[in-house]
Amino acid sequence: MAIVDIRGLKVSFGEKTVVSDASFTVEKGETFSLIGASGCGKSTLLRVLAGLQREWQGEVALFGNPIKANRRFQGTLRRNVQMVFQDPYASLHPNHTLYRTLAEPLKIHGENEIEDKVKTALEQVGLPADAARRFPHQLSGGQRQRVAIARALLLRPQILLLDEPTSALDMSVQAEILNLLNRLKVQHGMSYLLVSHDADVIAHMSDRAAFMANGRIERFFERDALVRGEHRMG
Ligand SMILES: Nc1ncnc2c1ncn2[C@@H]1O[C@H](COP(=O)(O)OP(=O)(O)OP(=O)(O)O)[C@@H](O)[C@H]1O
Ligand SMILES: [Mg+2]
Repeated sequence: MAIVDIRGLKVSFGEKTVVSDASFTVEKGETFSLIGASGCGKSTLLRVLAGLQREWQGEVALFGNPIKANRRFQGTLRRNVQMVFQDPYASLHPNHTLYRTLAEPLKIHGENEIEDKVKTALEQVGLPADAARRFPHQLSGGQRQRVAIARALLLRPQILLLDEPTSALDMSVQAEILNLLNRLKVQHGMSYLLVSHDADVIAHMSDRAAFMANGRIERFFERDALVRGEHRMG
């Protein structure tokens, strides 16, 4: 069963149509990637799937269930789809300790043993337990992105939407985070929908990829095409 099934998705902002006709599926356990020039609608598409962009047209199903536009995600749906944003600094509250940042979603979803779960989450992404007392500005960029990943994983989602998760990081830290993501994916049986402008990252991470231009999917790449580097266009 497809985890994500999008058919004829269209998103407009006023007069401007940003995603005009996108269709694809993400299968369970796979990493499906979106590539394409800046402004072609990649983040907008991810935001629809995260329930953050609520105005859209077309058909979207998550975990086999159709979702409706103009609705807030609730309950298991909200847990099961988590997003890691491009800029971890902007996505973490500057005045909240990491403990608070990580404990809050657990509290909202009525979890117990919150202290243990926060500790485990930090360990899982390779941060020391005492990092819980720190604020975002007391971390490196790579550490902040680890916190963002830890937060996304806390609720055991089925799919992680990764919007340029490592583009703000230098090469060695980037490789560490990508390998961490691959390990966690296997460990938790997740699926990933990844956006990256980096052809090496795409080749390293993806089972399949789609090239977007002008709001449409212009081309699909299977794993063997990615290995051959056919996505390295222009
Ligand atoms: N809330 C909004 N209101 C109006 N226009 C928007 C809004 N969000 C995005 N856009 C526009 O939609 C287009 C697609 O934006 P989007 O962020 O999806 O692109 P992207 O493919 O993620 O680009 P990048 O690679 O630079 O991150 C852009 O022209 C952008 O200016
Ligand atoms: Mg974007």
